[in-house]
Amino acid sequence: MDSLARKFGTPLYVYSADEILGRLDMFAAAFKGIDHLVCYSVKANSSLAILQLLNGRGAGFDIVSGGELQRVLSVSREAAERVVFSGVGKTYVEMDLALDADILIFNVESAAELTLLAERAKKKRRLARFALRVNPDVFAETHPYISTGLREHKFGIDIGAARRVYREAATSRWLTPVGVSVHIGSQIRSAEPFGAAMGRVAKLVRELRTDGIQIESVDAGGGLGIEYRAEYSFRPLEKVTEYAAAMTATLGGIPVRLLLEPGRFLVAQSGALVARVLYVKKNGKKTFVVTDAGMNDLIRPSLYQAHHEIVPLLRRTGGKRVVDVVGPVCETGDFFARDRELPRLEQGDLVAILDAGAYGMSLSSNYNTRPRPAEVLVEGRKARLIRRRETIQDLLGPEVNLG
Ligand code: LLP
Repeated sequence: MDSLARKFGTPLYVYSADEILGRLDMFAAAFKGIDHLVCYSVKANSSLAILQLLNGRGAGFDIVSGGELQRVLSVSREAAERVVFSGVGKTYVEMDLALDADILIFNVESAAELTLLAERAKKKRRLARFALRVNPDVFAETHPYISTGLREHKFGIDIGAARRVYREAATSRWLTPVGVSVHIGSQIRSAEPFGAAMGRVAKLVRELRTDGIQIESVDAGGGLGIEYRAEYSFRPLEKVTEYAAAMTATLGGIPVRLLLEPGRFLVAQSGALVARVLYVKKNGKKTFVVTDAGMNDLIRPSLYQAHHEIVPLLRRTGGKRVVDVVGPVCETGDFFARDRELPRLEQGDLVAILDAGAYGMSLSSNYNTRPRPAEVLVEGRKARLIRRRETIQDLLGPEVNLG
């Protein structure tokens, strides 16, 4: 990583292709024997190179915007047949794009959205295959910002009302109900809530079948968590196996195709953000390590109080120190770690902020007019630049200078 930082500069995102494909293989192993399709959740890391990598292995994609659809289509037009389109606020333009591309399924989140989808499908003379995203009212232990499966959240349609909405939709010639979908939140580490949600979905699928609505697929959403803290061990294959077992047990042998939308689990641990120490300073009792990466590059610690391990790329001798690792952005919330015991760091040193492959670059911004980092993908012994560092010209380009 040292040489990559020297070659491409910092801050720099570095990803391992082998790690990503390894995680995909774990899903395949855990769900072996069950008809399933992994639809990678593009929002976790929407880099074209990563989409290409997964597309090469036949993965599908979970998208939430027309922009994400265009990313997938630019990788492969054929991939459209493996695309599920989620999101609470699809516009008609986005629907049209997805209808033209003939995607696999729309995950519809409200009755009003369904009405608009029927209108657009009629206009295009195309059938829209859809699933209702139901809100199962299941509590999932995670950060409140990324919990989605309770009735008080904006997501999905109340599971109790779904049967009626399906019945109404079945009367439209432009809508084909083919699935039920659910997503209860993100960074969920226990398998139990997934099983509970699936149990409720299975009940609905059985009811719909008695209504004559043939449900072919159940979309279990994403949400499988990882372990960000080094002090706890994490066995990803065991985790995904437990997760698969919890869901298949409560699905109770209903013959459906299972769609899965993992994001974080596939890419988080494949990536690190490499940053250089600009300064080490003391204010009162506190020591601050100021890096050239900031909250605009990786916002998870600021936004969710998320923990990311930080490791120096060079081990210096001497004891550890308790420090705050912060960025250069003008916000007190611009930190990567607070009161963290770390090996001694000095000006010019490199650090890797770990497990930053998911919701790192994809949530980055240009706040403080900071160009976003470059990205490198390591495949075996080869390291390739997959996104060059932004320039100030990239940032100023769209603006109108009235002077
Ligand atoms: N499917 C749907 C409908 C989703 O809303 C999400 C994530 C996923 C799948 C993928 O979830 P995953 O497997 O990655 O947990 N920015 C936050 C996470 C936001 C998750 C949003 N939805 C973070 O950095 O923790």
